[in-house]
Amino acid sequence: MAVEPASGQRRIAGPLLAWARKHGRRDLPWQHPATAYRVWVSEVMLQQTRVATVIPYFMSFTARFPTLPRLAEAKFEDVLAQWSGLGYYARARNLHAAARLCVEQHRGKLPESPSELAALPGIGRSTAGAILALACNRHAAILDGNAKRVLARYHAVRGRPGKREVEKALWQIAEKETPRENFAAYTQAIMDLGATICTRSAPDCESCPLASGCTAHALGRETHFPAPRPKRARPVRERSYAWIERDGEILFEQRAPQGIWGGLLCLPELPDSDTPEDWCRNRLGLIPLESRELEGFEHGFTHFQLHAHVMALDTEGETLNDTDRYRWLTPEKALQLGLPAPLRRYLSAQTRPPMACDKEMA
Ligand code: ADE
Repeated sequence: MAVEPASGQRRIAGPLLAWARKHGRRDLPWQHPATAYRVWVSEVMLQQTRVATVIPYFMSFTARFPTLPRLAEAKFEDVLAQWSGLGYYARARNLHAAARLCVEQHRGKLPESPSELAALPGIGRSTAGAILALACNRHAAILDGNAKRVLARYHAVRGRPGKREVEKALWQIAEKETPRENFAAYTQAIMDLGATICTRSAPDCESCPLASGCTAHALGRETHFPAPRPKRARPVRERSYAWIERDGEILFEQRAPQGIWGGLLCLPELPDSDTPEDWCRNRLGLIPLESRELEGFEHGFTHFQLHAHVMALDTEGETLNDTDRYRWLTPEKALQLGLPAPLRRYLSAQTRPPMACDKEMA
């Protein structure tokens, strides 16, 4: 159930902009220069990832693909290699597909109408608003996680974001609060306040320029807004992967474009329906010798927890089947390509050169 803004409650733009002039973030790499292309890339990277993590990825991504047409003409494999480690790889697929659409349909530029922007893959209403406001200083509302928290608290909007009527009420508030000028500064300011002061579990209301008008603060219930999502235990998925090593190279599988880690390189996944030895013989065309289980790894996805088991297989035989899908790579080469973050960590740990103390203990 949503609450209407209290009549006569002060608009947030004035105090927010005054605060941002002193405390706002002005040194983020996508602000210099804040072109539509660079703001778009940053907003997509920031959809599920924190600023500090995004910064180095943004720098190397925009060095490699400095303009939208350069991104559009790149091979997806190269885009994925740049994205590798950021997670949520559908974002990279959508970014690349949207760049190609812009070349085909919008003369190599991002369109400037909110509806055309939001029709591109991976750009929702809030990302479209952020691109228009931050890069073009156009009047457009945003409702990303930070803005949602600030507005839900200021107006004590009850109900869980994600519910249709709550989203609708929050968008109405976001539209009303967006001022008639200074769109770029306002948009950056509400994101900055949400990220640095009006944080999820420990808001610093003492330092907040909106505290005197904030309904949640007046109620002493800041952290009750927005209502948290109900916690569901994440199911566990068990998966097994093969570690097959030969002459300093490891066997990798190019994963299908859909599903988890779509399009990335991975250790070959072992099917439940076969023993590792039968799979090795029938699928790869190699002769299995010894096998042993190695230490595995874990990874939390939004909807499940992955328990990865890793089975080392010694093999014989020269001809590998299905070389489009399976390839031998040195760990160094693989680490330059698109790998899932947990596998990147695992591979680095497994192939780290032994240190003196390891040798002594061996
Ligand atoms: N989160 C999403 N967009 C952002 C931006 N432009 N600056 C800081 N944090 C953000």
